[in-house]
Order: sequence, then C-alpha cells, then structure tokens
Amino acid sequence: MAKMNNPVRDSFSGRLGIIAAAVGSAVGLGNIWRFPYVTGENGGGAFLLMYLLFVIAIGMPVMLAEFSVGRRAQRNALGSFKKLAPGKPWYLIGVMGIVASFLILAFYSTIAGWTLEYLFQAAGNSFAGKSSAELSASFDQFHTGTFRPLIWQIAFMVLTALIISSGVKRGIEKYTKILMPVLLLLILIVSIRSVTLPGAGEGLRFLFRPDFSAVGWNSVLVALGQAAFSLSIGMGTMITYGSYIRKETNLPVTAFQVSVADTIIAMLSGLMIFPAVFAYSIDPAAGPGLVFVVLPNIFSMMPGGYIFSVIFFMLLSIAALTSTVSILEVVVAYLSEELNMARRTATILGAASIGVLGIFATLSFGMLDDVTPFGRTFFEWFDYISANLLLPLGAILIALFVGWFMGRKVFNDEISSGGMFRVRVTGLFMFVLKFLAPLAIAIVFIYQLIGSS
Ligand code: PHE
Repeated sequence: MAKMNNPVRDSFSGRLGIIAAAVGSAVGLGNIWRFPYVTGENGGGAFLLMYLLFVIAIGMPVMLAEFSVGRRAQRNALGSFKKLAPGKPWYLIGVMGIVASFLILAFYSTIAGWTLEYLFQAAGNSFAGKSSAELSASFDQFHTGTFRPLIWQIAFMVLTALIISSGVKRGIEKYTKILMPVLLLLILIVSIRSVTLPGAGEGLRFLFRPDFSAVGWNSVLVALGQAAFSLSIGMGTMITYGSYIRKETNLPVTAFQVSVADTIIAMLSGLMIFPAVFAYSIDPAAGPGLVFVVLPNIFSMMPGGYIFSVIFFMLLSIAALTSTVSILEVVVAYLSEELNMARRTATILGAASIGVLGIFATLSFGMLDDVTPFGRTFFEWFDYISANLLLPLGAILIALFVGWFMGRKVFNDEISSGGMFRVRVTGLFMFVLKFLAPLAIAIVFIYQLIGSS
C-alpha cells in the first residue's frame, strides 16, 4: 500500500529530525543573502508585506501539499507523480523541478562559495580596521575574479556531494539539529549591534514603513518568487523530503513550523542588514553583493567582532550547505530511483553537471560580465528563470494537482496521517490549493507580463 513506509527506504528518525532537515532546506542564503538584497531593490516595507502575505496565503499550504504528495507516493519528485497519476502528464511538474534544481544550485553555489571566502577572510581577521570603502573594494576585487571564486564554488559542491552520498538520515539530519538554533542566536546578536548603530532608524523605516508607490507588478512577482525560493517550494524539494517523513509525523504542524522558522530568520536578517545599510550609507539596491559588503562593516565595529564574524560565516556556510544538500537530493533521488543509478554515481553525475553550469554563474561577475544574452548575465538568468518563473509555475501546478486531481479525501487522509491527527482546516487548505493559490499566481504572472511590455 502506498501509505506504508518502505522499511528499506531511508527516512528521518523522528519529529525533530524532519523539522531540522526541512528547516535546514528552507533556511539558507535565501533568507540571509537573497531576502535583504531583493527587498532593498524593491523598495523595502511594501515588498516585505507582500512577501509575508505570499508566505502565509500560498507558501505554507503549497509546502503542505508537497509533503502530502511525497509521503503518499514514497517517491522522488518526478516518480511521485508517475505513481499517483500513472499515464498522465503531471510528472512534468517533476521534470520542471529537476530543471529548477540545476539552475538554482548553479547560482546558489556561487554565493555559497563567497561565504566560504568570507569565512576564510574572517578567520584571517581581515575586516578589522578597514573603512567601508576598503571593504567594498576588497569584495569587488574578490567576486569579479576567476580562480578564487571558482575554487570556493567547487569546494562547496564537493562538500554537498559528500553529504548527499552518505544518505539522508546520517548526512542531513545530524548537523542541522544543533546548528540551526546557534545560527538563530548569532543573527539575533548581530541584529542588536546593527539596530543600535548611530543612524539605524532610517533602515528600520525603510524596512517597516510600506511605500506602495515604489512597487510595480514586477516587484509583486519578485516577492512571490522570493517566498517560494525561501520556503524551498515549487520544485519538489519538499516532495522529496516529504517522502522521507514517517507516518507518525503531523504534516500540517510541520509545514507551519518550518514556514514560521524560515520567516523569522528572514525578518531578523532584514533587521541585521538594513539599519547598517543606512548607518554606513550603502545603497540598499546594491544587488547580490549587499550582505557581503554590509556584514564586514558591522563586524569591524563590534566588540568581539573577530570571533562573531568567524562563527557567523561558519554558520552561514552550514545553513547554505543544508540547503544545497536538499536541492541536490531532488536530482539524486530522481536518478537513483527512476533510472536505477547507484546513489554514488547519481551524486557524482548530478554534482558534476551542475558544477559545469555553476562556472557560468560564477564568472558572470567577472570574465563573463559582458555576456548578457537578452539583457541578463548567466547568473541573472539562472536566478530569474528559477525563482520568478519555474518556482511560481511549479507551485501553481502542485496546488492544482493536490486540489483537483488528488482530491480532498486522499489529501485529508494523508495530512491527518490516516485519522491519527484531527485536522480542522482541510477545507481551508483545499480552497487555497484549488482556487486561491493558482489564481493569485496566475494574476501576478499576467499583470507582470502586461506591465513589463
Ligand atoms: N530555501 C533555500 C534558501 O532559502 C533555497 C532553496 C530553494 C532550497 C529551493 C531548496 C529549493 O536558501
């Protein structure tokens, strides 16, 4: 029976295990690097509000839908649809998810590589005593280079592959359980330093005072994409992880906790970055380099800055690692289950081919910065196609699949673990999955297209 757990299938050991792994996937560079910079580029407060709305109204229900599909089918992101809807084209959601995994990991590993460089720099005490201008110049010199960013990126991909090849439970679960709470504590400490800087008030106003005149439909799409990206939904990560969740786990509670944890970390990152952005007169719309320029400034002005910076970049690298692992797992679970590849071979094949694509992302800031087909660098294209197109589209289709194809009975059976838990809000979830999420996302797409033409 589909509902029974297969005894040979690797799974998370219990409640804390799945929460740790799913939070590990959700919390990462998306919160600490991407969230502040897209918020900065899209005007601040109004963007934050839209992002929060999307997380609550669409993100969390879609995460639950993904968990339910994965746990029901006990398969990878593509195999799940083949099993639940044999002979139907729904498996194309899985195909899209695998394409998205490739694109996301290709550019994500660029930034993850930067965090390793910054860990290295922090350990060498290279922020202390430097002016804001010097810190910016040193970031520019590093990230527009060739070998250094590439080597860190490759190092990061190798680390990801090593964890993945040792399997889900032993690899993923062990570290996240301890490290995520420590990361939270550290972000708190750094935000306190940031909001107490002279001139911090302007940053708080930027973040919390919505100015809707600054946002167009494109910002709405970016907010939606950021919500999906940050929650790791729309491409099958949570389907894959859902398939490792035991039957005794309460799925709605899990989806709620993961979404709340992810959102708290994103908000705190905003509190950590924006006061300092304004205190140091940095442009909030500075783009992907934002946190790498802002954070060293904070550390250089903080008592104990050396030790905090080392621990911070270490934890940031680990937070990135528990996310890259969850992305590569989508590909590896697919290759090993559907194409019968050995896990090791699948890992090497997946990581190596994504690594090749990743080179283009990394060099987009240096050697290839003037290669901009249709107006974007490779990095920008990978990011745009995955976060703003594939993830929202994937989210629509997953919502439609669960809402209309899988249907209320099966969905309710799965999220209540066969009646073990009482779920009072199945009707509300069904409404969101059948109507609200697909329509809202479609409207954002259409208006963005009209608005930008
Ligand atoms: N949610 C991760 C982060 O915020 C990134 C991610 C996206 C992971 C999509 C898996 C799938 O860093």
